[in-house]
Amino acid sequence: MKKLAYILLGIAILSACTTSSHRDSNSVLESKVDSVLAKLTLDEKIGQMMQISSYYSSDAEKLKELVRKGAIGSLLNEVDPKAVNDLQRVAVEESTHGIPLIIGRDVIHGFRTIFPIPLGQAAAWNPEIVEKSSHVAATEARSVGVTWTFSPMIDVARDPRWGRVAEGYGEDPLLTSTLGAAAIKGYQGNNLTNSNTMAACAKHFAAYGAVEAGRDYNTVILSDQELRNVYLPPFKAAVDAGAVTFMSAFNEINGVPATGNKLLLTNVLRNQWGFNGFVVSDWSSVPEMVRHGFATDEAHSAIIAAEAGIDMEMSSDAYALNLAQLVKEKKISEEVINNAVRNILRVKFQLGLFDNPYVDETLSQRVMATDSAMALAQKAAEESIVMLKNENNTLPLSTSIKRVAVIGPMANDRYEQLGTWIFDGDTNLTITPLHSIKKLLGNNKVLFSKALTHSRDNSTNSFAQAKSMAKSADAVVVFIGEESILSGEAHGRANIDLPGSQAQLVKELASTGKPVIAVIMAGRPLSIGNIMPYTSAILYAWHPGTMGGPAIANVLFGVTNPSGKLPISFPRSGGQCPIYYAKKNSGRPADYTNWVPIDKIPVRAPQTSLGNTNHHLDDGFEPLFPFGFGLSYTTFEYSDLSLSSEKMGTNGAITLSVTITNTGKTGGYEIAQLYTHDVVGSITRPVKELKGFAKIWLDAGESKSIEFTLSASDLAFYKSWSEQVVEPGQFRLWVGGNSTTGLTQQFSIE
Ligand code: NOJ
Repeated sequence: MKKLAYILLGIAILSACTTSSHRDSNSVLESKVDSVLAKLTLDEKIGQMMQISSYYSSDAEKLKELVRKGAIGSLLNEVDPKAVNDLQRVAVEESTHGIPLIIGRDVIHGFRTIFPIPLGQAAAWNPEIVEKSSHVAATEARSVGVTWTFSPMIDVARDPRWGRVAEGYGEDPLLTSTLGAAAIKGYQGNNLTNSNTMAACAKHFAAYGAVEAGRDYNTVILSDQELRNVYLPPFKAAVDAGAVTFMSAFNEINGVPATGNKLLLTNVLRNQWGFNGFVVSDWSSVPEMVRHGFATDEAHSAIIAAEAGIDMEMSSDAYALNLAQLVKEKKISEEVINNAVRNILRVKFQLGLFDNPYVDETLSQRVMATDSAMALAQKAAEESIVMLKNENNTLPLSTSIKRVAVIGPMANDRYEQLGTWIFDGDTNLTITPLHSIKKLLGNNKVLFSKALTHSRDNSTNSFAQAKSMAKSADAVVVFIGEESILSGEAHGRANIDLPGSQAQLVKELASTGKPVIAVIMAGRPLSIGNIMPYTSAILYAWHPGTMGGPAIANVLFGVTNPSGKLPISFPRSGGQCPIYYAKKNSGRPADYTNWVPIDKIPVRAPQTSLGNTNHHLDDGFEPLFPFGFGLSYTTFEYSDLSLSSEKMGTNGAITLSVTITNTGKTGGYEIAQLYTHDVVGSITRPVKELKGFAKIWLDAGESKSIEFTLSASDLAFYKSWSEQVVEPGQFRLWVGGNSTTGLTQQFSIE
C-alpha cells in the first residue's frame, strides 16, 4: 500500500513538473511572440496576415519586393528549395523585422511518393498507415522548404456526387476523427522544428461535406444537432491531436458563410476547444462573402472575416487593401489584428523558422521516394483495396494461369492511377497494374488492350479486338473507373455511373463467357450496379497512387489477401444520394416486406400510401454495398460476445469482448466494428453509430478474443447547440464485420 502511494506521489510530482515546464515554455513562447509583435507597424502586421500564391507572381523580383516590405507572411505553392531559400533570405535579412515566411502547399496524399487518395486510405481502417504515410509526405515536402500542408481534409461526406469525397475519410465521424488525428500526428511529429515535419491544417471548417446535392461550394443547411454530432467531432479531434492550423470552408452554414462564422471560428474553436494555432481562409473565400450576399463589399468582408477569427487570408487581398484603413477609421479594433498576428507568429516559432528558415538544398535528393516510402505506399494501397464481389472464388487467380487478358483505360496509365491533388507526384515513379501483372506472370502470358483511350471515351471501335483477346485468355481483368480529374475540388457529378462506354465494354467482355474481374480505380463510390451481372469479381482500388500496380497484382494473384472495408456507403444511383448507414429510422422505415418495386405497381393503381415506406420505388432503400463492407479470401466468424455488465452509470463504462475466428484456409486481416443504437432519445437517434473498430490479423484457423471499452461519454450527443447529454435508457450494440451484421446485445445506462 505504502509503495503504491509512493508511486502515485512520484507520478504526481512528475506530472506537476511537466505541467509547470510546459507552462514555462508556453510563456517563453508567448513573450517571444509579443516581443516581435510589439515591433511591427500596422501595415507589417497586416502583411503577416497575407498569403499569396507563387503561381501568380511570375515576376520573382516583385515577389521579393513584397517580402522585403513585409507585405506577405506566407506563400503557397513554392516548391523549389532554392527559390524558397532566396525568399526566406529576403524575409530574414532584408525585411525590417526579419520574420520568416511559412510556405504552404496542398500535400494531400503524399508529395513525391503518392499514397492512395485519403478515401482509399480510409478503406484500410488503419491509423498507423495514415500516420506513417503523412510522415513520409512531411519528410519529402519539408525537404524542399514546404513547412505547411493543407491537409487533412476531415469533412464528413455522405454524398459521393461531391467530388471532394476523394479527399476525406468518408461518411463516419469516428473513422474520420481517428484517421484525421493520425494524419496530424504523422505530419507534425513530436517537434515541428524537425526537418521531417510540417504544420498540418484541419480543413474545411466546417460542414463542407454537406453541400446540397454534392455540388461543390454549394449551400449547407444543417440542424445544430447534425453539425455538433456529425460534422464537428473530427475538428475537435484535430485540436486534441495538436493541429496548429485550420482552414475555413467555402460554404455557408444556415445562412452564415464559414469564413465569417464567429460562432464556429471563435466561440467553438478557440473558446470551447482551446485552439491556439491560426486559421487561414480558403482561396478567396473572404471576398467571396460579397457574392454570398453577406458582405456589402470587400472592406466589409475583411471586417467580418477578421472579427470572426480568420487570421490569414489566402490568395485574395481584402485584408491587404482594407484593414489598415478600417483600423484608422475605428471600424475594426487593432486588437483583432494583434491577435491574428500572434496566432501566426506562434506557429512560425513552433516550426523553428525564426532559428532556421532555410532548407538544405541537397536534402530532397536523399529523401524523395525512398525504398521504404515506396514499400509503405504499396502496403497502403494493398490495405485500401476493397473486394466487393468474388463469385465462386474467382479470385485469387492462380499464377500458373496460362493467359490473362488485361483490358481497359486504367490498366496502364501512370497518371490516372495517382488521383486528385498530386502536384508534386512523379509519373515516372508510377508502377501500373499491367507492368506488375507482367512481372508476376511473364510477358508472354499477358495480353493487353486499352480498349478505350480514357474513362470518358464513348467509342466502341476497339471492343472487337478486346473481345477476341478475351476469348483467347483464361480470365479477363478489366481496369475501369474514373480519371483523376473527375473527382476532387470542383468536380462533382450528378450521374455517378462509370463514365463513357466502360459499362458496355464490361458487358461485351462478359459475352465471351470468360470470367471477368473488374478492377475499379476512382475517387468516389461509383454506382456500379449495371456491371454487377457481368462480372465474376470486383476489386475497388480507389486511386491507389504510385504503387497501385504491385498492390493490385498482389491482391489479384493472392500474394496479399484483401482486407479493405468501405469507409462510405455505395449507392445504387446518384438519385439515392445521400445514403449513409447512420440514418434515422423515420416513422415508416423500409424493409423487404413492404418495399413495392416500381414494376410491381399495377397500371392505373389508385393513389395509396398504405403499406408504403421510406423507400424509392426504383432503387429500394439499401445501398448497393453498405458502410464497413469488404470481402476477404478467407472467412471470419464472430462468437462469444460478452459484456462486463449490462448496465452502466452516466459516468460509467462497460467492457465487451468477442471472439473472432478465421474459418478459412488463408491468413487475413479482419476489421471488427462496434456499433450502438440509442433506442429512445429526447431527439431521435441514428439507427447505428460506429463506436469502435479493431483491425486484427488471424492465421487460418486462428481465434482471438478482442475487447472494446464503451464509455457512457461515447454515447453522449448534443440535443441542441449547447446541451450535450448522456441519456439514461436502453441501448443495443452490435459487433461484426460491417454495418449491417453482427452479434448483438442490449445494455442500459442508468
Ligand atoms: C482551395 C481548396 O478548397 C483547399 O482545399 C486548398 O487547400 C486551397 N484551395 C489551396 O490550394
